[in-house]
Amino acid sequence: MYLTGEIYLATHQTPVNLQDDGCFFMEVPIILLASDYMSLAVAAAKRGGPATYTNPQVGAVIVKDGQVLATGYHHYFGGAHAEVDAMQQLTAAQLRGATLYVTLEPCSHFGKTPPCCRRIAAAGLQKVVIGQLDPHPLVTGHGRDYLQSHGITVETGCLAATVATLNRHYDWFYLHQRPWITLKYAMTLDGKLTAQRGQRSLISNHASYIDSQHVRQHFQAILIGEQTLTIDDPQLTVRLTTLAHPPVRLVLLNNSTAAVNTKLTQPSTVPTYLLCRQAAASDAQLSAQPNVHVCIADWTPAKVSAWCARNGWQSLLVEGGSHLQADFVAAELVDELIIYLAPTVFGGQGLPTVTGVAAASPLTFTTPQVTVFGDNLKLCLQRKEAQ
Ligand SMILES: NC(=O)c1ccc[n+]([C@@H]2O[C@H](COP(=O)([O-])OP(=O)(O)OC[C@H]3O[C@@H](n4cnc5c(N)ncnc54)[C@H](OP(=O)(O)O)[C@@H]3O)[C@@H](O)[C@H]2O)c1
Repeated sequence: MYLTGEIYLATHQTPVNLQDDGCFFMEVPIILLASDYMSLAVAAAKRGGPATYTNPQVGAVIVKDGQVLATGYHHYFGGAHAEVDAMQQLTAAQLRGATLYVTLEPCSHFGKTPPCCRRIAAAGLQKVVIGQLDPHPLVTGHGRDYLQSHGITVETGCLAATVATLNRHYDWFYLHQRPWITLKYAMTLDGKLTAQRGQRSLISNHASYIDSQHVRQHFQAILIGEQTLTIDDPQLTVRLTTLAHPPVRLVLLNNSTAAVNTKLTQPSTVPTYLLCRQAAASDAQLSAQPNVHVCIADWTPAKVSAWCARNGWQSLLVEGGSHLQADFVAAELVDELIIYLAPTVFGGQGLPTVTGVAAASPLTFTTPQVTVFGDNLKLCLQRKEAQ
């Protein structure tokens, strides 16, 4: 629980009056709350972005005598943690007695880097204000306890609602032991994915396309169904930027025959997993391609989700089509919808956004966040149960 509204006074020299041809300055106190420092830490955390991969985005700010001495963040997967990034900018004397504001509980275990807690305690920091306890089972509460047992004052939950938006996929994964699952599609005003069955239709505009590329880079796996593979032959890559850890590409298929000579099975640095019901003659040829894997099982949405979790992928973006989306809706494995809505009506026999197996009961979502991209709207809604 975050206990106090700690107040620091800082002084800024501000011109307040002009006399003759000069000006004089008055000391104006600026009141900075713990939440202000945490806001700075949140802004720093966001700089890590998708480069942190399966690690969380974390930011840290070190304050002493009301002055911000250093700001740090977790730059990339495997890199220094945010608190260490900030601490290593300062001298031992500066660190002694300082307060650390950090968006996520400092780690207490040896991972890719040594435990941050030990370093914080050894440096003699006086107080640590934490935005959120780490849901990772190796850390939860242990970091806080370690710091407290070494005489450091610890407060948790500062700016908690804002901090919770930083690592929605990471938090969900460790709290629910499965990936966060988002369905993403472009649709017309009459709720269609295509103008005719068995064909591809261009629905969204260029700005929506660019945005959907940004969406992709925040996911660790992307999934499509067999008909989308056959009809659209997509690449499912992030093409606006180069990612050290791009999302892996998954396709649900009856067998691998449909994947022969598709873009997803060309030589690539991005892995493709063909999730097939049955073995086929094409399996050997496809498996010989670098980074192409044929995985045969009786796949269901629940099995795909559990398999992603076993692989450590914390987020899954389902990119259609209609039948695959229906399967995930029926399995109630939808945590978020991202919809690009275009001002078009197809009418006729166009493919509805979700067709197939019925859900046992309606899934309900939050009020949409709406972003305007020219004549398109982007609707972003989270499942109410995911709140
Ligand atoms: N507007 C958009 O945003 C958008 C996005 C994506 C796609 N699309 C369009 O959607 C259309 C395709 O959608 P669709 O509904 O026809 O097909 P789909 O959902 O892409 O694929 C369904 C196919 O995947 C197979 N499949 C599903 N689950 C499986 C499992 N667990 N194991 C093995 N195979 C599995 C199904 O096989 P069975 O039927 O044998 O089970 C079926 O053949 C295309 O025209 C495409 O252009 C539009």
